[in-house]
Amino acid sequence: MKSFVAFLVLLLAAVVQAVSSAGSRLLVILDDVADNSEYSKFFDDLSKRGFKITYETPKSESLSLSILENEPLGPNLTPNILVDFMNADGNILVALSSSTTTSSSVTALLAELDISLPAERSGLVVDHFDYDTSSAADKHDVLLLSPPKTTRPGQQQYFTPETTVSELIAFPAVYNPKEETDAVDPQELFAVGEQLGLVSAFQGRNSARFTLVGAAEMLSDTWFDAKVKKTGGKAVGTWNREFAKRVSAWTFKEIGVLRVNSIEHRLNEPGVDAEPNPSIYRIKNDVTYTISVSEYSWDKWTAYLVPDGDELQLEFSMLSPFHRLNLSRAKITKDACTYSAAFKLPDQHGIYNFLVNYKRPFLSNVEEKTTVSVRHMAHDEWDRSFTITAAWPWISGIGATVVGFVAFSALFMYSKPTDRAVESKKKQ
Ligand SMILES: *[C@@H]1O[C@H](CO)[C@@H](O)[C@H](O)[C@H]1NC(C)=O
Repeated sequence: MKSFVAFLVLLLAAVVQAVSSAGSRLLVILDDVADNSEYSKFFDDLSKRGFKITYETPKSESLSLSILENEPLGPNLTPNILVDFMNADGNILVALSSSTTTSSSVTALLAELDISLPAERSGLVVDHFDYDTSSAADKHDVLLLSPPKTTRPGQQQYFTPETTVSELIAFPAVYNPKEETDAVDPQELFAVGEQLGLVSAFQGRNSARFTLVGAAEMLSDTWFDAKVKKTGGKAVGTWNREFAKRVSAWTFKEIGVLRVNSIEHRLNEPGVDAEPNPSIYRIKNDVTYTISVSEYSWDKWTAYLVPDGDELQLEFSMLSPFHRLNLSRAKITKDACTYSAAFKLPDQHGIYNFLVNYKRPFLSNVEEKTTVSVRHMAHDEWDRSFTITAAWPWISGIGATVVGFVAFSALFMYSKPTDRAVESKKKQ
């Protein structure tokens, strides 16, 4: 097998006419450009989906990643430059080959993303149960695994085959042939079982994506076409090609990308013809909030429907949320789905945010914050006292006092004083 240190596939964002939501420019960095014949089907699939591929080697002088037209990130691919590239929304797919050790700059980049490789940068993954009996009968180092299962309800099913036939992905050996040892000391195992990630995917807070494929060979033509056989099973074709398509599509943002088309909040009081998106509300107003969300699916925007078992939620918050409400589907069109919620504002004035914070595995992050002020009641906006039943005893108290005072005054003024004083004088 030819030398193939690491092939890095980098995608530059910011191209307008795009096949993916991130653009269609793709830079493939191969240790040896001639290697691309070994991966021709994988690259053909990418270019058939509309990517414009440029091949380079890491040593090339002209190599530079430009995020903006005038800001080249060249000439070499240091881990810092690659991290800057991700910070500028670039997506990266790295495939490590089993036939050579990984370069230290790739290891440093992986360390930035909390992915650790064994210190000696070579290793062998074996599985004594699910291995390919036709090509690795002795060494058990070609793994036959089922596609990943969803781990919790309401998760996207991008990597699950639609057919019920069990599909197998072949992972050829991940090891350094120079260090062939038969017996491994269990104390020296780097990782076992679920500690081991053969394909790792990572998404930054800016939704830039990074995928590490443990064995580049699984993307090769050989394994796309191979027939594999489990112990006791019959020979079947591999699912590698479809899996490679989906993993690359996810990494390069052809699937799992959400877009917020519009947000609208407005007063929802009877008899008021309200303007959308006012900057100020009053406490205890009834309001409605609507948000329209689309999902990019291979080559077009479609309506994003929240899967069963998951909820799109709205928070109305000042420091901490006062309301956390489930948004319900209001209207579905061909390329967008509108969600809405109606609620009464809290009895507390201040500066609030309408916040939709939707972060789910395999989907790009949605964090939409709209700030509004909520004022207190103006002095003429309170209910008049006579409409409040609890005030009626007091109102009638005032009424009784007024009536009593008037009646007493009238009585007092119109009653003739008695002549008792005069009479008593006369008696003396
Ligand atoms: C939102 O939905 C979840 C799950 O369906 C449910 O448990 C929760 O009570 C709902 N919240 C509100 C405020 O209705």
